[in-house]
Amino acid sequence: MKMFKFSTPFVLLAVCIFMTSCQKDDNENGEDPVSYSYYTPESYAMMSQYLDIPESPLEYKLDFPDYYNTDFTLYDKDIATLGRVLFYDKNLSDDRTISCASCHKQEIAFSDDVAFSRGIAENETERNSLALGSVFSFSEYYGAESFGRIPFFWDNRATTVAEQATATFANDLEMGMEMHEVVDRVKEQPYYEPLFAAAFGRTTDINDENVLEAISEFINSMGSFGSKFDEGLSLAAGSGGFNVTAAAQEDFLNFSVQENMGKAIYQNDCAGCHSAIVSAPSRTRSNNGLKTTGNYADKGIGEMTGQAQDMGVFKVPTLRNIGLTAPYMHDGSLATLEEVIEHYSSGIANHDNLDFGLSPGGFNYSQAEKDALLAFLKTTDDEEYTKAVKYSDPFKQ
Ligand code: HEC
Ligand code: HEC
Repeated sequence: MKMFKFSTPFVLLAVCIFMTSCQKDDNENGEDPVSYSYYTPESYAMMSQYLDIPESPLEYKLDFPDYYNTDFTLYDKDIATLGRVLFYDKNLSDDRTISCASCHKQEIAFSDDVAFSRGIAENETERNSLALGSVFSFSEYYGAESFGRIPFFWDNRATTVAEQATATFANDLEMGMEMHEVVDRVKEQPYYEPLFAAAFGRTTDINDENVLEAISEFINSMGSFGSKFDEGLSLAAGSGGFNVTAAAQEDFLNFSVQENMGKAIYQNDCAGCHSAIVSAPSRTRSNNGLKTTGNYADKGIGEMTGQAQDMGVFKVPTLRNIGLTAPYMHDGSLATLEEVIEHYSSGIANHDNLDFGLSPGGFNYSQAEKDALLAFLKTTDDEEYTKAVKYSDPFKQ
């Protein structure tokens, strides 16, 4: 039997409605709290000077493909809509030039197209921006390593979006704002009052917790499974209690011979770290021989722990939408997927911490194998995701 899940805020809302003691229920006309989703005509007219958002909020629902063991996840649409505005709001950086979206651009799966992104005052980040569209479902896959989930950042140093976003706001190279300063900037902007009222009720103060909750709800609502790869996996797996990993090994009906050849190479050589269904990695951290011992300017997890076995060890990134998110690796040092494939074919350095899944030198692929691997990797690109209105910039330019 299939299951469906609700995200935590949805469950809370349901409980609130049930108990009718919820803050969303302070409407002076005593209307059904659900009608809070809709802004008053005056507030909607005011918001419309700044924002292009519909009168009734868009749905934030992930309708998973048949091969996945959960039907759908619902996110609170009012909270996610608020999060969407916060994500795109440049007012939330010190010099008002940078928003989250400056370094996480929707059209390239919420990554950046440069090795190091520009933060406030034209500073450069120290690592390559990570694509927020690299997993099947953000909320299903990210979290604490101890729960078998993927922690955030190249060095796995955060386990929740709230923790990650607080670090990013405060980072002097990125946004340069303590949370209380972020909250002050939010209070300054007139369009946030109706958005917060819809999300959290009219009597709730704007504070760091609800700002972070809204950003988290928006990011957690991100999911990417509209690719050719997903179509093929759905066909191979059918629906109902099946083994998806086994289905991912079969030739896909919608793939070309070349794409299927690339998939077979991927399953053999890459899936051990990057996962058979190209989502939550089978391994969360590793060294892939990008450089030799001692030559990593950035030591990854070793920067934090100081331990020899963590030097040059980084998060194993997930590879959905990988055709869109160049440049690659923690330092953006590989400009194209062709260079990445060449790395795994002939460029793997003999690092002390080189993962047992890889050998110095590389897999020594023929040109046909390289072409096939490239063709396969591109089947994970998902246009539905990069064009979805619910994730797009709501600001009128
Ligand atoms: C100046 C560029 C920049 C800005 C602005 C920025 N980010 Fe990032 N983001 C990055 C970089 C670079 C990384 C990787 C950093 C690292 O691993 O140390 C990253 C990593 C992340 C991750 C981790 C993804 C993963 O797979 O581990 C999330 C989530 C994220 N950012 C969300 C946000 C949110 C939310 C905001 C706004 C509050 C934001 N970012 C603003 C550059 C930026
Ligand atoms: C032993 C584990 C392991 C195996 C096997 C492996 N990788 Fe990786 N891969 C990693 C790690 C770790 C990184 C990040 C390294 C870094 O940034 O320093 C990475 C990074 C990548 C990236 C860059 C992702 C990004 O967002 O920048 C691509 C693309 C990639 N690998 C493709 C492949 C392909 C294709 C194969 C098979 C030929 C493969 N990997 C095999 C561990 C592995």
